[in-house]
Amino acid sequence: MTTSPADPRLMGREVRRIVFDEQQIAARVAALGREIAMAYPDGELLALGLLKGSFMFTADLVRHIPRPMQVDFIVASSYGAGTVSSGEVRLLYDPETSIEGKDVLLVEDIVDSGRTMQMLVALLQKRRPRSIAICALLHKHIAEHLEHPVKFVGFDAPNEFLVGYGLDHAENFRHVPYIASLA
Ligand code: IMP
Ligand code: MG
Repeated sequence: MTTSPADPRLMGREVRRIVFDEQQIAARVAALGREIAMAYPDGELLALGLLKGSFMFTADLVRHIPRPMQVDFIVASSYGAGTVSSGEVRLLYDPETSIEGKDVLLVEDIVDSGRTMQMLVALLQKRRPRSIAICALLHKHIAEHLEHPVKFVGFDAPNEFLVGYGLDHAENFRHVPYIASLA
């Protein structure tokens, strides 16, 4: 399907197709929130949104988790495009909220190779949470084997470059309310 919606937010860029529209996203995020609430019947839940990509997803998701919880964010340094990961991740914003003893839900926009999330889980595990789980809006299923699998997935994503709903291309398109594939 090829669509080029006349959307000024796209700055005249050709969009190959809208992969997930606003209604699909809203329905799936609400269901994911209910799923997460059921998975944590007790305990102290802390959602940690990985900025910047997960800002919109985190904001929508937590509104659908009807139980006490805390919300904070995390900013990690990312390896540059095309570079080999050093196997280390550096926190540029370290959450002020304590992690020890809590059920930590790491909220990510998209899992591609999964390296970012795997390194973050390893780092946060040193702070002795009760549990730690990954929730990703999109999962490309590129990685063969992830030591810490993604427990909550919004959508299986095609192996295309996606923008919108928090996902960017050079910081553009994060505000687009749907998810599109760039041509
Ligand atoms: P990973 O460590 O390879 O899983 O990379 C995940 C990160 O790469 C995400 O948090 C995004 O910032 C970025 N990324 C991966 N695929 C896409 C995409 O299709 N569009 C926009 N950003 C992406
Ligand atoms: Mg990101």
